[in-house]
Amino acid sequence: MPVKNRLAELLPEITEWRRDIHENPELLYDLPRTTALVEEKLRAFGCDEVVPGVGRSGVVGVIKGKSDTKGRVIGLRADMDALPMAEKTGLPFASKNPGKMHACGHDGHTAMLLGTAKYLAETRNFDGTVVLIFQPAEEGGAGGKAMVDDGLMDRWGIDEVYGMHNEPGLPLGEFGVSPGPIMAAADEVKIVIRGRGGHAAQPHNVIDPLPAACATVMALQTVASRNTDPLKSVVVSICVMNTESAATNVIDDTVTLAGTIRTLDEDVRDMAEVRIIEIVNATAAAYGCTADIHYERGYPVTVNHEENAEIAAEVARAVVGEGRVHYGRPPRMGAEDFSYMLRARPGAFVNVGNGDSAKVHHPEYNFNDEAIPYGCSFFAELVESRMPA
Ligand code: NI
Repeated sequence: MPVKNRLAELLPEITEWRRDIHENPELLYDLPRTTALVEEKLRAFGCDEVVPGVGRSGVVGVIKGKSDTKGRVIGLRADMDALPMAEKTGLPFASKNPGKMHACGHDGHTAMLLGTAKYLAETRNFDGTVVLIFQPAEEGGAGGKAMVDDGLMDRWGIDEVYGMHNEPGLPLGEFGVSPGPIMAAADEVKIVIRGRGGHAAQPHNVIDPLPAACATVMALQTVASRNTDPLKSVVVSICVMNTESAATNVIDDTVTLAGTIRTLDEDVRDMAEVRIIEIVNATAAAYGCTADIHYERGYPVTVNHEENAEIAAEVARAVVGEGRVHYGRPPRMGAEDFSYMLRARPGAFVNVGNGDSAKVHHPEYNFNDEAIPYGCSFFAELVESRMPA
């Protein structure tokens, strides 16, 4: 079975929505225009229930199948938020909001789930219930967690949940899905190394925090090389080193360091946190300095449930054929807040090919509208084959 005909017919309309959302990007939880568009469309399609304000600004739509028996309840999730960056695509429908851009394709994800909703509300060729989940604040705001904390799974009795993300570099019309950990936990550390500043020509009269900071950055490399099982994964990237003064003849009191820690399992995650705190304190002390450490846990590991990953792969194969579904790929060290939904319910997160485009979070990135029929057909086929009428 290739792409569903009805969804191919809807492509021009869905593309229009996608470009409209693209032109009007909004950030985090502040999505008045996007959520109004989603709500209005869901109501126009004839959804059985449309509920805004879930997890602050998430929107939930419900479509019941043909039979009124309870049946299974499947959640399908799209993210709606853009990124705080300037667009450089030069597209006719480029961002009209300076400093905001749909550079991760969430415009496409939202449009694809809307297209799926239109198709499902029209055909209802399934037995059970579909819960459409439009979430805010994927880009650093944990909107997925906000919706789960707001009772998303229990309020609608969701049994299993699926999400989709476009993937530049994966050919158009291809899918990737894997069981187990697929994306990393993303934690952050902010460190202030405190010494005592003064004149750069009198280093013996100061406690220079800069050599301590440099030594700390180097020492932290051993978390990966010496503390982690070589067959496991960790990233410790210190990406920020700042002093207050820009003068070449001033030694500052403090140096600020900050970075990200990525891991694929909870044991390595706990170990990395402990070792980082020990190394920072001990290294600062070795140079006569002290350290303030603020360690913050972010999105957890995104773990696909094995059975649901297999189901998703079967569905993708039904849509695009065996040879165009990549199953069991290695995980990546990016992070995704769909992880919170997968902690609450079994499910899977799949990738749909965006073709040979700029990478996500790049100012020239654009979601590929030709991916829409594949994404929509995947969701529709998932519903129809998992809950046959
Ligand atoms: Ni994204």
